[in-house]
Amino acid sequence: MNSIKEMKKIIGLIIVLALFGYKADGLNLVWEAVAPGVWKAVAGTPEKFDLLKAAGVKPNLEALSKLGNAPIPISIDESFLEIFEGKTLLRFPLVKEEQLYGFGLNFKTVQQRGKILQLHVDHYGGTDNGRTHAPVPFYVSDRGYGIFVNSARYITVYAGTAVRKDSPEAPIPRDRNTDKKWSAQPYSDAVEMVVPAAGAEIYLFAGPSMLDVVRRFNLYNGGGCLPPRWGLGFTQRVKSLYTADQVVEEAKAFADKGFPLDFIGLEPGWQSKSYPCTFQWDKSRFPDPAGFVKKMAEMGIRINLWTNPYVSPDSPIYEKIKPLSGSHTVWGGIVADLTLPEAQQIMADQLSKDQISLGVSGYKIDECDGYDRWLWPDVARFPSNNSAEQLRQSYGLLLQRMTNSLFRQQNSRTFGLVRASNAGGSSFPYVIYNDYYSHEDFITALINSSFSGVLWTPEVRGSKTGEEWIRRMQTVCFSPMAMINAWSDGTKPWSFPEVEKEVKAIALLRMQLMPYFYSEFAKYHFEGTPPFRAMNLEPGFGSQSKSELKNFNLGENPYAEAVTKELKDQYMAGEFLLVAPLFKGQTERKVILPKGKWYDFYTGKYVGSGELIKVSAGIEKIPVFVKDGGIIPLMPPRMHAPAAGEKYDLEIRYYGTSQGKYLLYDDDGVTFNYEKGDYSWRTITVSPDKKGKIKGSISVAEKGKPDQIGDITWKIMTE
Ligand code: GAL
Repeated sequence: MNSIKEMKKIIGLIIVLALFGYKADGLNLVWEAVAPGVWKAVAGTPEKFDLLKAAGVKPNLEALSKLGNAPIPISIDESFLEIFEGKTLLRFPLVKEEQLYGFGLNFKTVQQRGKILQLHVDHYGGTDNGRTHAPVPFYVSDRGYGIFVNSARYITVYAGTAVRKDSPEAPIPRDRNTDKKWSAQPYSDAVEMVVPAAGAEIYLFAGPSMLDVVRRFNLYNGGGCLPPRWGLGFTQRVKSLYTADQVVEEAKAFADKGFPLDFIGLEPGWQSKSYPCTFQWDKSRFPDPAGFVKKMAEMGIRINLWTNPYVSPDSPIYEKIKPLSGSHTVWGGIVADLTLPEAQQIMADQLSKDQISLGVSGYKIDECDGYDRWLWPDVARFPSNNSAEQLRQSYGLLLQRMTNSLFRQQNSRTFGLVRASNAGGSSFPYVIYNDYYSHEDFITALINSSFSGVLWTPEVRGSKTGEEWIRRMQTVCFSPMAMINAWSDGTKPWSFPEVEKEVKAIALLRMQLMPYFYSEFAKYHFEGTPPFRAMNLEPGFGSQSKSELKNFNLGENPYAEAVTKELKDQYMAGEFLLVAPLFKGQTERKVILPKGKWYDFYTGKYVGSGELIKVSAGIEKIPVFVKDGGIIPLMPPRMHAPAAGEKYDLEIRYYGTSQGKYLLYDDDGVTFNYEKGDYSWRTITVSPDKKGKIKGSISVAEKGKPDQIGDITWKIMTE
C-alpha cells in the first residue's frame, strides 16, 4: 500500500517537474490568462486572505477587453519561484537599462531599480524604504509589463541589487587595489522578493506602453474611482475644536469673500471623545447635528468627518465590538477585526445611524497606517486568525471599502481622505494625505501615486510666507483634492493678504477646470488612466534608451536629460496639461517637454517640442503647458460645483495647430446611476476648415442621457 502511495507521489512529482520545468533554483512561474493582457501565476499555496480579497475587487473585464489582447511579455517567461522555510522566494529577470517604477507611494524617488524595500504600511518617515501609506506590491517596467504580488504581507524587494552565481550577466570580480572599475554595487539582472508566506498569487500585466500596464492594473482592480462633482471643488478643514456655529461662520466667510467652497472637514472635536473615538457627535459643540448638516447643505456645503478607527470604551459600540477585536489596544481603544463582516457591520451601523443618515458626505480616515510605537504590534492576535501583519497591510483598504459601501447603499457618492491604502484600492473614492510637509516631496508622491492605483493630495496647512502659501496653493489646485487642512492653526485661504488675490484666482481656476478634471476622472474609472500622472507615462516621453543617447550632447540636445535623469517635479494633469510647479524661493525652473509641440496654458504661445526649456513666472502663475491640439473645457468661475441636473456654460479652449479631439463626460455628478449607463460622452473636435479658419464642434448627448451643458463659447488660444 505504502509503496504504491510513494510511487504515485514520485510519478506526480516527475509530472509536475516536467510540466513546470524544474531548474536547480526553483520552478518557472506558470502564467494563466485571467483577462485580456492579464495573467496570473500561483506560487505555492496562497493564503486565504490577500489584498484583492480585502478590497473585494471585481475586475472590469469589459474595459479590459476593450484594451484588447496583448502577447505575454517575453523576458518575464524566465521568472522563478521557490518555497523555502514557509516563505515564497521570487525572481523576475531584468535586462540592461530596464527601468522600474512603482512599489507604492514613494516621496523622494521615481525610478526604483537598485532599491531594497520592505513594503510595510506605515506613516512615511522621510526615506523611501518601503514603509509608506500605500506600499503597493506592484511595479511597472519601461519594457512594457507590470508585476503585482497579491499578498498582505511585508514583502522584501531587491529591485535589481543582488547577483546570483549562475547569472548570465554576473559581473566579473575586479581587484579593488588596482581596478578603477571596481564597484560596490555591481550589475544585477533580476528583481528578487521574499514573501513571508508559503504561497501567493502573482499577476502580470501587459503593455505595450507603461500607461497600458497601469491602465490594466487599475481596471483589474475595478477601475479608478469617480468622485462626485463636488469632490473636485475646494475643501477647507477647520480647527479641531470648532463648534457648529463657528463652522457656519467659516462657510459664510468663504461666501462673503468670494472664495469657492464645496465641503468642509470637521476634525476630532466633532466627536464626544477622540483618540480613541466614540463615533458620536459631541453635543456641547454640535447640539443639533441634523440641523447643522441641513443648514450647511442649504449653504451649498457638504460635511466630511475626521475619525480614526480605534474604539473608545465610551463608544456605544464598544461592548458589542469587543469580542470581535484584537488582543491589543491603541490609546486605550480596541481594534476591531475588520476582516470579520460582523465587526464591519457594527461599525457601519453606527456611522450610518449617527452621521450618514443625517446627510454627512464623507470621512477622513486617520491613523490607519499607524506608527509602530502606538499601533498594535505584530504579535497581536485577532479573532479571525488573520495575522496582525495582514491587518496592518489591509486596514486602510477595509475601512475604505466599509464606508464606501454605506454611501453606495444611499446611492450617493462620497469623496474622502485616508492615510493608508494598498493594491486593490483604485476604485475607492479616497485620497491619501499625511503629516509630512515637504512641498517638493509632495509633488514626487503625486507623480508616484500614478504607478500604484492610488490618489494623493499635497495638502496645504500653513506657510512661513505668503510666497510659499501661494506656491503650495497652486499645486494643490492641480491635484486630486484641493484642500486646506487647518485643523491645527486655523489658516484660511486669505490668511496672507499679500497673496489673497492670487490664491482666489487659483481656487477659481480650479473650479473652472472642473469639467476637464471630471472628464479625466471618468477616464480613470472607465479606462484606468490616472488623472494625475508621471511624465514617464506620457507617450513618447523618454522612449530612447541611454545607449541611444550616448552620442547626444546634453548642451545640444537637452531632451537627453529627460531620459538620463529621473523627473520628480513636473507631471501631467489629465490628457493635455503639463504642470511644472514652482517652489518657495523660485521664480524660474527647467521644464522638460515631451516630443510634440507644447503651448503656454495662459497665452496659447508656442513654447517648444521635445526639449528642455527654462520658464519663469511671478507668484500669480504656476507654469502649465498644453499639448498640441489640446482642448480644455472650462466652466465659469463658481462658488460650488453644479448640482445634479443644473446647467453650466462652457468655454472650450483650443491650443496649437493639430486637429484636436476631446471626450467630455457628463452625468448627474452625485449618484451611482452612471453604473447603470446614465452618462454621456460628448466628442469635441477642433480643426481648420477649408479656408484654414479654425472651427470647433461638439456632439449632442444621446437622447435620454444626462446633459448639463448650457451655452458654449470657443476660444482659439494660439494665434
Ligand atoms: C493627524 C492628521 C491631521 C489631523 C490631526 C487631527 O493624525 O494627519 O491631518 O487630522 O490628526 O488630530
